[in-house]
Amino acid sequence: MTMTVFKTAEIVASAILFLLIATEEGSAYLFEPNCGTANITYKIPGKADADIFLNPWMVLVIGEANCGGSLINSRFVLTAAHCLSSSPMKARFGDYDTEHSGEDCMPSGDCIPSAFAIDVDKKISHEDYDNFKADIALLRMRSTVKFSEHVRPICLLVDEQVGTISHFNITGWGQTKEGGKLSRILKTGTQSEVDSTKCAGRFKLFKTQVDSFHICAGSSNSSACGGDSGGPMSAVIAYQGTLRHTQFGIISFGLRSCRGLDVHTNVSYYMDWIVHATKTYSV
Ligand SMILES: *[C@@H]1O[C@H](CO)[C@@H](O)[C@H](O)[C@H]1NC(C)=O
Ligand SMILES: *[C@@H]1O[C@H](CO)[C@@H](O)[C@H](O)[C@H]1NC(C)=O
Ligand SMILES: *[C@@H]1O[C@H](CO)[C@@H](O)[C@H](O)[C@H]1NC(C)=O
Ligand SMILES: *[C@@H]1O[C@H](CO)[C@@H](O)[C@H](O)[C@H]1NC(C)=O
Repeated sequence: MTMTVFKTAEIVASAILFLLIATEEGSAYLFEPNCGTANITYKIPGKADADIFLNPWMVLVIGEANCGGSLINSRFVLTAAHCLSSSPMKARFGDYDTEHSGEDCMPSGDCIPSAFAIDVDKKISHEDYDNFKADIALLRMRSTVKFSEHVRPICLLVDEQVGTISHFNITGWGQTKEGGKLSRILKTGTQSEVDSTKCAGRFKLFKTQVDSFHICAGSSNSSACGGDSGGPMSAVIAYQGTLRHTQFGIISFGLRSCRGLDVHTNVSYYMDWIVHATKTYSV
């Protein structure tokens, strides 16, 4: 990260909570219908390492610094605006162990095919991005991303209100402690939403006010750290009878210690921008 405050991931596994939200009928729809499902055949409960099969939408964003990102359709990756660099950028898909080329395997012997990278041909930062405000950006891939069991988009809800969601997953290859090395293995953790006024107090020295365009979340054992920025904050919801991993936040910033609280960009606040920008820049 260019600034150490940007978080990302001291991600210690935590108890995994299932969350089922009834969705309402209406004009709501999923940004990419074929989203948010992972093959859970090989799920290993209670592991801090993100299961190799469970995060097929996770993208390693490679620029001046590494960031996280999420695949949202066959052409676009969602990330944080502060992750954009003026130098050429790439996005790597289907990765798990970033230092291992070739297949990534688990001790059980289950493997995923080699990760692959695609060049970014357009970087779209939100026009209001300023010092962690509107910290949201889209990366357009030079070529179409082919979906597979290991490379799939996460869900985004368009025009949809879900009830209160109190727990979220964050995922990333960021530092496992303040000032530490980036993690070579994808890590995951669970956080709960924290009242924004409480959060605003903790971040009041920040120039940006923590407001409804943010989601504040925290946990005593799971927090983002340098290198996790741009990655998804998600929850499993029931959408028309299927369980779907759905993105609600983008990891944006947190405390220098990488402990306690994180502030994420509120994806639903920017949903119209996402829909509009992806339409405008689709070719
Ligand atoms: C992490 O903290 C959460 C509460 O924020 C708790 O539910 C969970 O059990 C903790 N996990 C571990 C591994 O300590
Ligand atoms: C899940 O993975 C297993 C093992 O690779 C495979 O046999 C099965 O067909 C997969 N299921 C789906 C829905 O892709
Ligand atoms: C996120 O934005 C949505 C849409 O504007 C809003 O309804 C919601 O309350 C916001 N979430 C938080 C935590 O402020
Ligand atoms: C976090 O991810 C795990 C594994 O995919 C999933 O089982 C769990 O429901 C998720 N947690 C939340 C809060 O959605």
